Amino acid sequence: MRKKVTKAIFPVAGMGTRFLPATKSVPKEIMTLVDRPLVQYAIDEAREAGIKEFIFVTSRGKSALEDYFDAAPQLEQTLRKKGKTELLDILKKTDMDSGEIAYMRQAKPLGLGHAVWCARRLIANEPFAVILPDDVISADKSCLAQMIEAFEETQSNIVAAMEVPESMAEAYGILDVKEDMGSIVSTKGMVEKPAPGEAPSNLAVIGRYILTPTVLQKLNQKKTGAGGEIQLTDAISDAREEDGEEVYGYRFKGQRFDCGSKAGFLQATVSFALQRDDLRDDLWAFINDLVHAKEAAQ
Ligand code: UTP
Repeated sequence: MRKKVTKAIFPVAGMGTRFLPATKSVPKEIMTLVDRPLVQYAIDEAREAGIKEFIFVTSRGKSALEDYFDAAPQLEQTLRKKGKTELLDILKKTDMDSGEIAYMRQAKPLGLGHAVWCARRLIANEPFAVILPDDVISADKSCLAQMIEAFEETQSNIVAAMEVPESMAEAYGILDVKEDMGSIVSTKGMVEKPAPGEAPSNLAVIGRYILTPTVLQKLNQKKTGAGGEIQLTDAISDAREEDGEEVYGYRFKGQRFDCGSKAGFLQATVSFALQRDDLRDDLWAFINDLVHAKEAAQ
């Protein structure tokens, strides 16, 4: 019987050290691209893909995230009294039905694989999605929806993949490609953060996964990998090697912004602002002024 993906894990327990001092008190996932927090983009993408249960793996200091998805009766009442219906509509997008969202704690930041393992009881024996909210993907059809479509065919592990320059490979999990079929590639596994010159391909894994429960069993072994962390990519590779499960890479259609880095965050901010009717003209004028000033100074 073909299995459907209805649950998604959002691991958000990392410390976000690249955004210190801001992340001393503000969770990275609450930081905004224009006026929507990263986590809202992630939830919208998951909803568009048909996800019904949203499981957050959080840590100490992330309560702003839980508040964000909570009802805000006082705020809503004030907006209603003032007739601010447009703002009320915007707020509606943050509503989560009771029971639709769950929070698990990761007591120690032992790695992404460990964070996913923390949600194992809520996943039980079903395929599930993993979304890292700091990878924001702008696409006509949501990246996860594209991957779920592919999963309907393969019924096997799928990771989102994109080409990266060789010099960047050591920052990613890199696919060891068996057969390249275009949007889908079959793999012989993957290598997490390969040493320079040792990347098996130029296809990097980014923050979207559809995984089988076997990967959770592999995470049970709590094997540490690159950086002394429990790596999700290692558990996926083990499911392939030890249980013969296929692992596919999926070349998604869309633009990915690495919002876990400052440069990626700024690029996403500009890109999303330029898509907005209320901001586009002013921002273009500002960018043009900057370019002219730079040219004049040269
Ligand atoms: P990152 O590698 O980006 O780490 O984690 P980070 O802590 O968020 O940020 P920096 O590098 O210190 O700036 C990738 C994803 O995995 C989650 C993070 O929350 C992020 O969504 N993660 C990482 C966990 O949930 N737990 C961990 O132990 C590690």
